[in-house]
Amino acid sequence: MEGKPITPAPNTSNLSASPESDQQVLQIWGREPLKGHVKISGAKNSALVVMAGALLCSDDCRLRNVPSLVDVALMAQILAAVGVKIEQNADVLEINASQLIDAQAPYELVSQLRASFFIIGPLLARLGFAKVPLPGGCAIGARPVELHVRGLQALGAEVHIDHGTVHAYVKGPNKRLKGAKIYLDYPSVGATETLMMAATLAEGETVIENAAQEPEVADLANFCRAMGAKIQGAGTNTIVISGVPKLHSVDYPIIPDRIEAGTFLVAGAITHSEISLSPIIPDHLTAVIAKLQTMGAKIIVESPDIMRIVPGRTHSATDIETLPYPGFPTDMQAQFMALLTLSEGDSIIKETVFENRLRHVAELNRMGADIRVKGNVAVVRGVARLSGAPVIATDLRASAALVLAGLAADGVTTISSLQHLDRGYEQLEVKLQKLGAKLQRVKEGEPANAEAPVEPVRSGLK
Ligand code: EPZ
Repeated sequence: MEGKPITPAPNTSNLSASPESDQQVLQIWGREPLKGHVKISGAKNSALVVMAGALLCSDDCRLRNVPSLVDVALMAQILAAVGVKIEQNADVLEINASQLIDAQAPYELVSQLRASFFIIGPLLARLGFAKVPLPGGCAIGARPVELHVRGLQALGAEVHIDHGTVHAYVKGPNKRLKGAKIYLDYPSVGATETLMMAATLAEGETVIENAAQEPEVADLANFCRAMGAKIQGAGTNTIVISGVPKLHSVDYPIIPDRIEAGTFLVAGAITHSEISLSPIIPDHLTAVIAKLQTMGAKIIVESPDIMRIVPGRTHSATDIETLPYPGFPTDMQAQFMALLTLSEGDSIIKETVFENRLRHVAELNRMGADIRVKGNVAVVRGVARLSGAPVIATDLRASAALVLAGLAADGVTTISSLQHLDRGYEQLEVKLQKLGAKLQRVKEGEPANAEAPVEPVRSGLK
C-alpha cells in the first residue's frame, strides 16, 4: 500500500474540520449563469458506513470512489484509533482491520462525527465487545441511538451506558451474537446499518422489519455481500441476514452521492441554467426529480448515468414533506427551500425527520426571502429577488442552501462557518467555478470586491 498512511492523531482535538475553514468565508457574486458538466463524487453517507463495515473483515479491503471530505478523514482517524491500518490514495482507501485493539474511540472524535457510532456493530460482531462514546446531538437534533442499542440487545449483547460511553459485550463462551427478529419503531438509517452489520457474523438468522430503505443501506449490504455476507432484502423495509463465521477481502466502489447530485440540480434550477451531471443513479433521485418537474424544470436522462436539467423560465411553488426513503429526502430540504424562495406562489415545507432542521430560514430571510416558521413547518412566500448579504452557515445542508441562494442573489453573499460545508461536499466551490459561478474562498474579514473576479479565482482549497 503506497498511499498516505493515516495513524491516530496524538492530539485528536485538532481533528475538527480543516482549521483554516473556521477563519475563511465564501464570497459569491450572484446571478451568473452556469453551464457545462459537473462530476459527482462518491456518496458521503455510503462511504462513512462502508468504512465502518470494513471492520467486519480481517483481510485487506479496498474502497474506491471515496470522496475527500472532513467526515471521511475523521472516520479514518476513528478506525485507526481501534487498530485499523488505513491508507488513502486519492479516492481509494486501503483498509486492514486484522489487528483490532481493545480501545475506545476518543470522545473528541466521536463528538464531531456522529457516524463514528457505526463502529459499535462491527466491533461487537468481530470482538464480542465494544466501547463507544455516545455521539451526542448536533445542530439538527438530539440524534438519540436507542434503536441501535435495543437492536444490539435483541442480538444478545449486554449494553450499559456509563459516563457517556456505551459499553457492549456478548456473554457466553463463543462471544458470538445470536440472530433475532427486530422491529424498528422508526426506519432509522443508522440503526438499520448498525444491526445489519452486526448480524452478518451472528449465529443464525436476523430479520430487521421496518428497516430503512435508503440507497446507502443497499450499498452497505452490497459491500457486505461482496465480502461473503448473506443478506436479502436490503433497500426494502424487511432485511434478512443469515450469519456467517467470517468475511473475506473485497475491492468495492462506493455509489455516487445522490444528495450532491440533487444539490447541483437545484443549482441549475435556481440560476436558470442548463447543466449536466454524472455519474448519477436516476432511481436514487426519484422524489427530487419529481419535485423539480412539478416546479417546471425538465430533467433529461441522457445515458444510464448522465442527467441534464433544463430549468423553466420561472418556477412554480410546490409543497414538500420530508420522509424516509423513498419519500422526499430531508437532506435536500434546505436546498429546495432556497429554490422555493424565488418561486411563484406560496410553498409549505414540513420537516418530519429531524426536530431542528429549519435553522437556515433566518439566514435566507436576511437575503430577502419571505419565510415564516411554525413548529416544523415553514411557509415560503416566493419573492422576485434575493439580495446578497453576510450569512452564517449552521449545518451541512443549510450551508449548501446558502450557497445556492448566493448564486441567485443580487450582489455579493458572504458565507462564514464553512467547516460545515467541508464536511459533506468535495470541492463544491471548485466544481461551481468550473460551471461559471463567480465565487471565492477568502480569509474572514477581507473586503469583498464589489465586482465579481474577472477570472474564476482558484478556491482556497488545496
Ligand atoms: C443518516 O443519519 C444520514 N447520515 C443523515 O445525513 C440523514 O439525514 C439521515 O440518515 C436520514 O436520511 C449518515 O448516513 C452518516 P436516522 P442517521 O437514524 O442514521 C431518529 C447529512 O446531511 N432516531 O435515520 O442519524 C433521529 O433522531 C446527514 O448527510 C431515533 O430517534 O438518521 C432522527 O430524528 C444529516 N433513535 C430520525 O430518527 C435512534 O436510535 C432519523 O434518523 C436513531 C434515530
